[in-house]
Amino acid sequence: MTDSARPTDRPSERRAAARTSVVWDAVHPHVAPGADVLDIGGGTGGFAVRVARLGARVTVVDPSPDALAALARRARELAVDVSAQQGDLSTLLEVTGPDSADLVLCHGVLEVVDDPAAALATLRRVLRPGGVLSLLVAQRHAAVVARAMAGHFAQALTLLDAGPGERDGRAGHRFTADEVTALAQAAGFSVETVHGVRVFADLVPGSLLDLEPGATSALVDLERAVSSRPEYLPLAAQLHLLAR
Ligand SMILES: C[S@@+](CC[C@H](N)C(=O)[O-])C[C@H]1O[C@@H](n2cnc3c(N)ncnc32)[C@H](O)[C@@H]1O
Repeated sequence: MTDSARPTDRPSERRAAARTSVVWDAVHPHVAPGADVLDIGGGTGGFAVRVARLGARVTVVDPSPDALAALARRARELAVDVSAQQGDLSTLLEVTGPDSADLVLCHGVLEVVDDPAAALATLRRVLRPGGVLSLLVAQRHAAVVARAMAGHFAQALTLLDAGPGERDGRAGHRFTADEVTALAQAAGFSVETVHGVRVFADLVPGSLLDLEPGATSALVDLERAVSSRPEYLPLAAQLHLLAR
């Protein structure tokens, strides 16, 4: 386990470790010191600062001034350099220019854009030849399970019948593994890995992680073990793709 994925004593960090370990494991081998990393929709920079601490030159582009201010505070507190620029996917090429990144992180953003296919085409142009895209999206099947378990059966039924491209209210687009893979391929990417993220982490009561010694480490191990098993992909709250 890498240091940054090791569960800590703080409850919020324990839950974050269970949710992000699979993505971190996949991404950090692609972070070279001095590499140019773009985190589009990077928000308050939780992931960006971890990447910057590995020695990469990280730029976060996000439309939210509040998120960028929180990112600046976080980077200052941890004494890491992260460049923050206000912008969004529709104007990204004007901000960064083409062929400007070795690694692009697009985590939790494809859900909220109007046109996911156009967004991926833009990311393709921003990446340098041979560069890596880290794409994290919400998964549709798991959302049906989550709605049903919360007792929202009618919502679960509506979501069950939703087709590709249909929005789930404010949550936006949700994808199956086949849909997001096809979208990435249509934009010119070659998809190298697809992992399931948060297969169990969202279903486990927080109190269990707080009270049971060693529970978070065991959950992180379990998340890692199921992340690459295709039979568990439909249960994952998120799908993580690495593509070139
Ligand atoms: C769910 S948050 C994800 C934040 C971060 N990437 C993470 O994984 O924790 C979505 C982020 O996308 C940003 N966003 C919304 N619309 C966007 C757009 N059209 N282009 C780029 N980012 C956008 C939001 O401001 C927000 O910071």
